[in-house]
Amino acid sequence: LAVHVLNGPNLNLLGAREPEIYGSETLEDIRSALMARCESEGLALVFKQSNCEGDLVTWVQEAAAASAPIILNAGALTHSSIALHDAIKGARAEVVEVHLSNPQAREEFRHRSYVALVARGTISGFGATSYLLALEALIAGAKRKS
Ligand code: DQA
Repeated sequence: LAVHVLNGPNLNLLGAREPEIYGSETLEDIRSALMARCESEGLALVFKQSNCEGDLVTWVQEAAAASAPIILNAGALTHSSIALHDAIKGARAEVVEVHLSNPQAREEFRHRSYVALVARGTISGFGATSYLLALEALIAGAKRKS
């Protein structure tokens, strides 16, 4: 089983980008922490980032076609992308939505999530740990099934 971790716009800037909100860890730090946990469970990790909505739509479709669960931080597309919402729904993708910050505690325009409406669940507000908690949720779910 491979877990697909998909990251949207501006997450390539992590570490330098508003560290008081998003923390000082880089996307590469997050990738390597997830990789260590995946290796200990015998899971493969696919880890991607794009600033383009269409890439994320395609990657959601591809992961779903491979029956791979997705950890998705869609960045600002969370709050705007009906295309991404439709991709998750249409492909019946299993998605855990993650955010570094807690969007509900921020500006009002971040309160609506089109991803949450079609996600298994959401983990927000724990910085890089949000991704690791999402991975734990998928591992626990996979163990329950097997
Ligand atoms: C974010 C929250 C979004 O509102 C924002 O646009 C991001 C990052 C987060 O991880 O906290 O780009 O998804």
